[in-house]
Amino acid sequence: MSRNLSFGGCDVVALANQYGTPLYVMDEGRIRLQMRSFKRAFDTTGLDYRVAYAGKAFLTLAMCKVVEDEGFMLNVASGGELYTALQAGFPAERIYFHGNNKSIYELEEAIQAGIEMIVVDNFNELTILQNVAHQHGKVVRVLLRITPGISAHTHVYIQTAQEDTKFGFDLASGQAAEAVKLVQESSDLELLGFHCHIGSQIFETKAFVVAVEKMATFIHYCREQFHLHTQVLNLGGGFGIRYSRTDSPKPISEYADQIADAVKKAFPQGNYPQIWVEPGRRIVGEAGITLYTVGTIKEIPGLRKYVVVDGGMTDNPCPTLYQTKYEAVVANRVDEPATETVSVAGRCGESGDMLMWDVKLPVIQSGDLLAVYSTGAYHYSMANNYHRLPRPAVVFVYEGKAELVVRRETYQDLVRFEQIPTRLQK
Ligand code: LLP
Repeated sequence: MSRNLSFGGCDVVALANQYGTPLYVMDEGRIRLQMRSFKRAFDTTGLDYRVAYAGKAFLTLAMCKVVEDEGFMLNVASGGELYTALQAGFPAERIYFHGNNKSIYELEEAIQAGIEMIVVDNFNELTILQNVAHQHGKVVRVLLRITPGISAHTHVYIQTAQEDTKFGFDLASGQAAEAVKLVQESSDLELLGFHCHIGSQIFETKAFVVAVEKMATFIHYCREQFHLHTQVLNLGGGFGIRYSRTDSPKPISEYADQIADAVKKAFPQGNYPQIWVEPGRRIVGEAGITLYTVGTIKEIPGLRKYVVVDGGMTDNPCPTLYQTKYEAVVANRVDEPATETVSVAGRCGESGDMLMWDVKLPVIQSGDLLAVYSTGAYHYSMANNYHRLPRPAVVFVYEGKAELVVRRETYQDLVRFEQIPTRLQK
C-alpha cells in the first residue's frame, strides 16, 4: 500500500475527495508557528518592536481571526482588505493602510473605521488625506513611505525601494524631506514616522541593514532640520521563503539580530524609534499547499512529458509572472521514488501556463493527486477567473482537523454580477 501525504495532520487524499481539486490547503498551526517565531526573534533582540501581517499575501475572514489571536497588527492595501478585516471583527486600532493610489472613498472608510494609521505614499495622497481628515474633524496619524534607493537581490518585478519606482517619496531628490515639512505644517495630520519596503523574497540580511542605515540618517536629519521626534520606523516585509531546494532562507532570528544591531549602531544614544516589520510571505507561504488532479498526460518522444493538472495560472499566476520554481509530490503515492522528469502544465489556453518545468516525480498517471508546496502566499490572493474557471476552495487544517474557510466558486458565482441589456433580452 502506498502512503498518502499528510499535511497539518490530515490525509490530503481525503481532503481532495471531500472538497475537490484544485484545493488550497493552509496549515493553521504552521501559520501560528511562523508568527511566534517573529515574536521570539524580535523579543530576543531587546528592541522595542511591533510585527504586522501583510494582508495582501493571503487574507480571508479566518486568517484575520488568526492574526488577531496571535496579537499581530494587520496592514491592508485596499478598501476590500480593510472591509474583510472589519467584517472579521479585527480591531481597527491594530490596522494600518498601505497603497500607492488609495481612493478618497478608501481613505474615508479608513478614517471612519478609526484605524491606527495611514502610510502615505505620495504628494497627491497627502493633499487628499489632509482634506478628508479635516472634513471628518480628525487628526490622522501617518507614516511616510520613503524610497531609500536600495536594490535587494530579488526578481526585478518585486523590487520596490530603488529610486526609479512608482512607490513612495524619494530620498535622494529631497521629496521625502519636502513631505515631512508638509505633514508638519498640517494640523490635520500627525507624523509618527517612516516606512520603507525594499522588496520581496529577500534572502540577504544586508539589504535590511542598509535600509536601517539610510533611514536612520534621514531620521537624524529630520530631527535637526524639523525637530521631528520619529516614533516609528517600519522596515516593511520581504523575508524570503523556500519554494524549492535551491532557496535557502535564513532564520528569522538572523534578520532580527542584524536589524537590531544596525538600529543600535545607528542610534548610539539608544533613542531609536519603535521598529516595525510587516511580513506576508514568510507567515503564510510555506504553510500552504495546492492539490491538483492530474488529467492529460502528453509525451513527445525524446523531447518532453507534459503532465496537465486541473488548475494553473488561474490559481497560481506566480510561475508566469515571476518564474517561481516549486517542488511537488504525488500525494497519493508519496513514498514512491521520483524516477521521471516531467513538466507540469496548467489547463489554460496559453503555452506560458506552466507550473513546473523539468521536475522529478514518480511515474505519474491520470487521476493522481499532485501536491505543490509553498503556495500559501500570493496564490489565493492573486487567483483569477480566466476561462471562467471557478476559483478553488480554501481549507484550514489544524491539529488533524480540516475546515472550509472559503468555499469553491460555482458557475452561478461566475455570472452573479452580470446583466443583459434590455435590448438584447429577446
Ligand atoms: N509591505 C509592503 C508595503 C509590501 O508592498 C509588501 C509586499 C509587504 C509588506 C509584504 O512583503 P512579503 O513579506 O510578503 O515579501 N506577488 C509577489 C509579491 C509581491 C509583494 C508585494 N508587496 C510574489 O508572489 O512574489
